Amino acid sequence: MTANPPITWIDNPRARTIEKSQAVDDLIPAGIARKTRAFHSRIPGYQVSPLKSLPRLAAMLGLGGIWVKDESFRLSLSSFKVLGGSYAIYSFVKSKLGVEELDIFSTQGSNMVREKLGDLTFAAATDGNHGRGVAWSASRLGFKSIIYVHDKTSQARIQAIESNGAKVVVIQGTYDDAVRQVNEDAQKNGWQVISDTSWPGYEDIPRWVMQGYTTMFAEAQEQLSAQGIIRPSHVLVQAGVGSLAAATIGYYAQLFGPERPRSIVVEPDKAACLFRSAEIGDGQPYSFEGDLDTIMAGLACGDPNPQAWQVLWDTADAFVKCPDYVAAKGMRVYGVPLAGDPFVVSGESGASTLGALMFIMQRPECAPLRDSLGLGRESEVLLINSEGNTDPTYFRRVVWSGRHPVPDEYTILEE
Ligand SMILES: Cc1ncc(COP(=O)(O)O)c(C=O)c1O
Repeated sequence: MTANPPITWIDNPRARTIEKSQAVDDLIPAGIARKTRAFHSRIPGYQVSPLKSLPRLAAMLGLGGIWVKDESFRLSLSSFKVLGGSYAIYSFVKSKLGVEELDIFSTQGSNMVREKLGDLTFAAATDGNHGRGVAWSASRLGFKSIIYVHDKTSQARIQAIESNGAKVVVIQGTYDDAVRQVNEDAQKNGWQVISDTSWPGYEDIPRWVMQGYTTMFAEAQEQLSAQGIIRPSHVLVQAGVGSLAAATIGYYAQLFGPERPRSIVVEPDKAACLFRSAEIGDGQPYSFEGDLDTIMAGLACGDPNPQAWQVLWDTADAFVKCPDYVAAKGMRVYGVPLAGDPFVVSGESGASTLGALMFIMQRPECAPLRDSLGLGRESEVLLINSEGNTDPTYFRRVVWSGRHPVPDEYTILEE
């Protein structure tokens, strides 16, 4: 049996024709990252996450630079996701109180919130990371949380959520089923859903979640400009429902317009809902049918976020889908870098873009993709390590025991 190829891609030439996108203006208005960053920097323990440079690997791949925004230690929660959940809860509370400013992390502020709003319970569906961020944010503010996961979620991820004070409910099915179930149960029980995906009539909260992610890029821009780089020339971003990708590419589209970095959205081939939507190509989001059985747990989503899709349809230059061995390779290369490059702890979803970048640069059949995106010696490529070691047992199976090896026919000869 031949293995699936490492990279299957589809170009979105339409994105190059759009100078100004209404979807971007609606989702990521100018100046929003300054606001979200100001909020996050008031969270006790906030630190700018590192931007790591991999110059040796960049030279080996024929690139100018590889820059990794390393979210593996964000607020000690091992992923970027808390940036979205915390900003959404904050924005929701502000809108309930009808105030513009709120020092929600001071004792006085959080007491006032509880006095005025009473006991709120925040609910969310998750593949692990978003739920952990919502649970953490709710508990910091003295609220309860209840988090829905699907039955293939690892015990380590469940425990990480519970250790942040949440009740965890396990449902049969996929992440998308958990989204539907939590919404139904929340309506019956009066919980407030903090979802990282949207549906008609439920748009404010996921918009706040996506806006919250832009703090990463406000930080990254500062870090890059300190290195004399005005903007990355390319960004590869991993996607489940597409919220992270829309925040990333939307941020750059808002800041630089047509001069924005060229972008590639990377999905698992077993859960490629955005790729499928681009392939159908009528501008609508489409679900991906199947059991979504991929090691990239954070990307195992079959239904695109419609709000995010609108941004990606207008701005993403290419969509790529790849098998699990691509992410596994990314994890190993991050963990055992070329001499002189720093190591990065990266989980399955986090490492998918590095794996994809390596195959894109090294496989002969990817030359047309490299050419159409202008990837080469002058390129400064931004990647987001969106998670660290969020599932330690599986992490060791991949990194130590070599699970999901690159099939012989796709091994790079020079390696
Ligand atoms: C580690 C990690 N990376 C990337 C993503 C993708 O985010 P989105 O579902 O917004 O596309 C997720 C989502 O949960 C995640 O947990």
